[in-house]
Amino acid sequence: MDAGKPCQRGYAARLHDQRSDRRPVYSFRIMPAPMTGRRKVLSVVGTRPNFMKIAPIASALAKRPDEFEHVLVHTGQHYDSDMSEIFLDELGVEEPDYRLGVGSGTHAQQSARVMERLEPVLLNQRPDFVLVPGDVNSTLAASLVAAKLGFAVGHVEAGLRSFDRTMPEEINRIVADAVSDLLFIHSPEAREHLLTEGRREEQIHYVGNTMIDTLVAVRGRLRERAAASRFGVSDRDYLVVTLHRPALVDTDLLHTALEALETLSRDVAIVFPMHPRTRARVRDAGLPLEDSGALKLIEPIGYLDFLALVATSAGVVTDSGGIQEETTFLGVPCLTLRDNTERPITESMGTNSVIGLRPEQIVEAPELLARIRSRKHRVPPLWDGHAAERIVEVLMQS
Ligand code: UD1
Repeated sequence: MDAGKPCQRGYAARLHDQRSDRRPVYSFRIMPAPMTGRRKVLSVVGTRPNFMKIAPIASALAKRPDEFEHVLVHTGQHYDSDMSEIFLDELGVEEPDYRLGVGSGTHAQQSARVMERLEPVLLNQRPDFVLVPGDVNSTLAASLVAAKLGFAVGHVEAGLRSFDRTMPEEINRIVADAVSDLLFIHSPEAREHLLTEGRREEQIHYVGNTMIDTLVAVRGRLRERAAASRFGVSDRDYLVVTLHRPALVDTDLLHTALEALETLSRDVAIVFPMHPRTRARVRDAGLPLEDSGALKLIEPIGYLDFLALVATSAGVVTDSGGIQEETTFLGVPCLTLRDNTERPITESMGTNSVIGLRPEQIVEAPELLARIRSRKHRVPPLWDGHAAERIVEVLMQS
């Protein structure tokens, strides 16, 4: 679109016209800002993995200043500097325009705070599009408040399903997908899930993986970090561990996991950057937290150091979602300590193996990882560093 050329009528307004059966909950309908020739995109981030998913979109939008304006809202769900600021700095993400400072709490408290504090921002900004990445509580809350105000919502990483509603993220995904207008997917099975749930084909855009865009952008900077030697281990001779899900760390399984890690560390060095939630649970349970030499229990580390550490490791043991994708892209074998995954493509094509929520299996990691190494694997289609550009193109056409 040429600068200065009047913008098309707002997407939210057009959607409203098309769906007169969808009555607004509010007695008034919020319309996009007056036509300025530029589309306003407002993105909502809250937690560590959200930053990597939005950073390339922010950068792609910034390259088209005549067509787009970007407003960044940080809910503050993650607030420690090593869970938040370090990522914004390393990824070169602009200083957020708004910080909602919601902090920790129960799911209801956290979600309610995001909703209450985001609503006036949306009313003030009146964006053409609201982008929500991932599946965290901030995603759920932001998508709900934006959809109820009648703004066009785009869910980045739509359609993933673990079919396990005991995971808070599964509920967050289902709700975000149900209320979003634009569904950006990175795996073919996501389309099937969305169609089964009644979403329309024209809402679904297979664009690729924006988290992998970020990885592609920083890949050339990983070697210079010399992460392995800085963390006291040798290339290809150590494992990286991350565990933070409530199903594991809020239960007795945490004890089993730590014992198994201690045993395994007699054979292979382990670096375990510990999420604050996990550290708190270890403390609550009175379990030892000291670094025992071969088992390195360290503070959370930044994005570049983490990827650099993973890239030269012999393998990863995790319960994270995103790390299953990053290891698949890097070709590093990964054992996922969960009963299911919402990212099956990382198993069918990539280097991931979902071994169940049975941490006693950690002691078998070397053999299990060797089995993955002997398998053929490849990077899924469209995990190519250009997903964000495709998203921006869709926004342009919408
Ligand atoms: C959240 C997401 C999870 C995601 C993870 C990535 C939900 C439901 N969960 O989990 O999907 O994989 O982020 O890291 O949204 N804490 C701090 N400092 C912080 C943030 C958290 O100390 O900056 C501690 C607090 O004790 C807090 C606990 O970690 O109570 C859990 O934080 P919370 O944001 O509720 O969920 P995560 O476990 O981080």
